Amino acid sequence: MTNQMERIGTLCSDAEKGKALTREEIIELLVCEDQYSNIILEAADRVRQGEVGDHVHLRGLIEFSNYCKRNCEYCGLRRANKKLNRYRLEIEEVIDTAKNAERLGYRSVVLQSGEDPYYTVDKICKIVEGIKSSTDLAITLSCGEFSYEEYKQMREAGADRYLLRFETSSKELYKKLHPDSDYDQRIQCLNDLRRAGFQVGSGFMVGLPGETPEILADNLLLLRELDVDMAGIGPFIPNPDTELGEENGGLLIDALKAVAIARLLLRNAHLPATTALGTLDPRGREKALCAGANVVMPNVSPMKYRELYALYPNKICVTDDPGHCRNCITGKINGLGRSVAKDHGHTLKNTNK
Ligand code: SAM
Ligand code: SF4
Ligand code: FES
Repeated sequence: MTNQMERIGTLCSDAEKGKALTREEIIELLVCEDQYSNIILEAADRVRQGEVGDHVHLRGLIEFSNYCKRNCEYCGLRRANKKLNRYRLEIEEVIDTAKNAERLGYRSVVLQSGEDPYYTVDKICKIVEGIKSSTDLAITLSCGEFSYEEYKQMREAGADRYLLRFETSSKELYKKLHPDSDYDQRIQCLNDLRRAGFQVGSGFMVGLPGETPEILADNLLLLRELDVDMAGIGPFIPNPDTELGEENGGLLIDALKAVAIARLLLRNAHLPATTALGTLDPRGREKALCAGANVVMPNVSPMKYRELYALYPNKICVTDDPGHCRNCITGKINGLGRSVAKDHGHTLKNTNK
């Protein structure tokens, strides 16, 4: 046994038993040779089984508008991307899409969009109320930054959860990538969401240009500090229609390791096997499910809009209808010896939310 193999084994077995990993230890895991990565992924898989069990929660993703007033340098929806045809679903169309997701067996939907000024808080609340009054679905919103009062209104309308990634924990990198947004404001939003009573999801991309192992370790520690209920971690995938089109993307193994370390740190938080992971590798989501993840978010958006929600190229499932994806993902989950959860998949943290 080599020294490094032994060292990674010791760190993982301590973490598995509940010892909090330090920043330096997280960095050691992040930079270990690829041949030892499996030690980390397997430890995370055992922690996942002990903390959240073998069920996988499905959340149906409804991409209801690709208009965005922001200009994040990595994202195909940025307002400066004039090549993209823009669309938005009307309120009734979103509600019908959610009803269809429930008919397909989903217990939970995620309503996601760019920051589209057409979708005022009142309109978002109308959608939430429409879905809540006609279905038994849990609702996650992921529509960007709003004020505390606005988040509170959305929560009172019945939304259960909110997903807002901080994208990177480095203020400097955040500023470079978000010419018109502010890191402190992003963190303020996450605190406001908690205060408004939401189950809070956050997360980051792996492999952004300028990212270092130190930044990645701080991303993971920030998730723990924010005590998130859910953490979405996926590779950065360069989009040729953006400022970062020529950059290198994140690597599958680095993203998987980040998911695994998140499981070691966050214990019973929900961790999705992200679509971006499935885009990098046809078995990317299955690999994440075996490295700590316990959630998948299949697309249930109407077919005609799919290819227009183009965050990055070659996104999976663009031509597969919602019924097909539902069966496909169930098959993949069962193939791993796991099963689809039947409940709403609310937070497992026993705090007062
Ligand atoms: N507009 C909302 C926001 O930014 O929070 C929600 C929608 S946004 C498209 C959802 C997530 O997509 C972002 O949080 C970001 O991490 C991810 N994303 C955007 N561009 C990406 C890219 N090129 N590669 C991987 N993920 C990307
Ligand atoms: Fe807009 Fe979100 Fe894309 Fe940024 S990441 S450009 S806020 S859709
Ligand atoms: Fe969409 Fe497999 S989940 S085709």
